Amino acid sequence: MLGTARRLREVVRAQLGHPGRIPGRNAEQTGTDRASAFDIHSEWEDGAVPSPPTEAGSSDQSSRQDEQPASNGRTGAFPREVARLLLPTPFGEFDLRAFESETGFIYLALVKGRIAEGHSVLTRVHSECLTGDALGSLRCDCGVQLRMGLRAIAAEGRGVVIYVTGHEGRGIGLLNKLRAYVLQDEGADTVEANHKLGFLADVRDYQDAARVLTLLGVRSVRLITNNPQKRRGLEAADLAVEAILPLPVAGHARNRRYLEAKRRRLGHLEASASLPEPPRADVADVTELLGTVGDHGWRPHVIVKFAQTLDGRIATSTGDSKWISGERERTISHALRAACDALLVGVGTVLTDDPQLTVRLVPGSSPLRVVLDSRLRIPTGARVLEGDATTVVLTTSLAPDERRHTLLARGVAVRQVDEGPGGVDLASGLRVLRGMGIRSLLVEGGSRVITSMLGADVVDRVIVGIAPAILGSGREAVGDLGSIRVADALRVGNRSVHVAGDDLIVAGDVLPVAARRTATG
Ligand SMILES: NC(=O)c1ccc[n+]([C@@H]2O[C@H](COP(=O)([O-])OP(=O)(O)OC[C@H]3O[C@@H](n4cnc5c(N)ncnc54)[C@H](OP(=O)(O)O)[C@@H]3O)[C@@H](O)[C@H]2O)c1
Repeated sequence: MLGTARRLREVVRAQLGHPGRIPGRNAEQTGTDRASAFDIHSEWEDGAVPSPPTEAGSSDQSSRQDEQPASNGRTGAFPREVARLLLPTPFGEFDLRAFESETGFIYLALVKGRIAEGHSVLTRVHSECLTGDALGSLRCDCGVQLRMGLRAIAAEGRGVVIYVTGHEGRGIGLLNKLRAYVLQDEGADTVEANHKLGFLADVRDYQDAARVLTLLGVRSVRLITNNPQKRRGLEAADLAVEAILPLPVAGHARNRRYLEAKRRRLGHLEASASLPEPPRADVADVTELLGTVGDHGWRPHVIVKFAQTLDGRIATSTGDSKWISGERERTISHALRAACDALLVGVGTVLTDDPQLTVRLVPGSSPLRVVLDSRLRIPTGARVLEGDATTVVLTTSLAPDERRHTLLARGVAVRQVDEGPGGVDLASGLRVLRGMGIRSLLVEGGSRVITSMLGADVVDRVIVGIAPAILGSGREAVGDLGSIRVADALRVGNRSVHVAGDDLIVAGDVLPVAARRTATG
């Protein structure tokens, strides 16, 4: 056993100089993450493969890895199976088979259904991303892609996710990926950052993934990926790729540059469809609607979004607002939610509509949910308090302590801020949100909150869905702003207009007071 571990360390040491390195460049600590993989102690180091599980639909493949032919200088003994068990997940039970590669990295095959001697097997080769997969980082789209891949395979009832440890940061390892992030914060794009660290843009190799698939009995795959390089990598290792199935993910304001660089510099497929067509696409690219997310220092960038009728109503006089806009417009609203750090409503909307305020109509991460509620009238059973997404209630000293304790016991963050004319003082609330790390805030209503936000001059952009309907009297989108002349109106610049199904979407930046004066002459 000791001999094997030593040999593996030697292999890695021999590799440290070359796999992704630009010749002549010397990246610090290149091998730190790779070497750490050798601390893993394998119970099956002598080559005995554990018994297969009996449930979850196994691939019933049991060929011994040491019988596999060597390819490209690798020995035939690797990858070899070192563990097998049933893994229950939110996407159902998977037959998890762990393979150790010659470099010591572990390849996890999450198998669904029978894939042995399998053609057209729905497959995702997923590169490990600790920050995205496990911590939900919004710097990348990895976590959402992993969940979507598992979900698609669970839905089909047959397929496999190969989870590749050692592919972290496109193969440069966790520590170097974090260093690359620092360089990206200083202005480099994801490719330039790798180069500055002395690495190629992409260090990954797919031979072992292909060999694991072959060991599982997979003959050909339909590959879930936006990265054409994965197809080439598997084909180069003699695995047939019948089709590429792109995985559209709703982008976030925080990873927009990164996704764009992957498309431009690494040839990745579009991660989302563009606005306004195709109308039935699952994911809308809301980049244009969102505009530029500015840094305002003390408060988040605030985007107000609502759906109204042609005559400016956001609900009937009884409060009914379901649904003013059509499905396409609502899908775009969900993509906007997925793009922002947080989503805010007033307690009036919670009491009337009981919304969940999560991302459901597109694949994407749900933002943090914020409710303005000066006296904690929010019902304990409100849907906005349920689910995985975090909820923060901004309240004031008017709130009873007992309500505060009840919410805290439910895992709801309650933050006390100053009182203001509408309930919660907006400046105080926004400052607290910015202190929590929220840089982009989507405000979805209702009318009192929209009105106070516009009145307090803290709105940077408005996005209005306009449905082809006239309600007559009902709830207006925006109440009194104290305008007595048309010239007092808030003005909107940098406008864009889109057709979304039967609805129109109009977006624009709210001009600062000085620019408004210029705009009106
Ligand atoms: N069509 C759409 O896009 C859309 C979207 C959302 C909602 N809606 C509709 O809008 C209606 C609800 O509107 P709404 O005006 O009653 O509810 P709201 O604006 O969501 O909530 C208003 C409440 O929030 C609290 N609040 C705390 N601080 C505030 C501040 N600074 N400014 C304003 N409010 C503050 C106040 O309650 P406390 O004084 O108790 O703190 C206030 O009564 C519903 O009919 C809903 O269906 C439509």
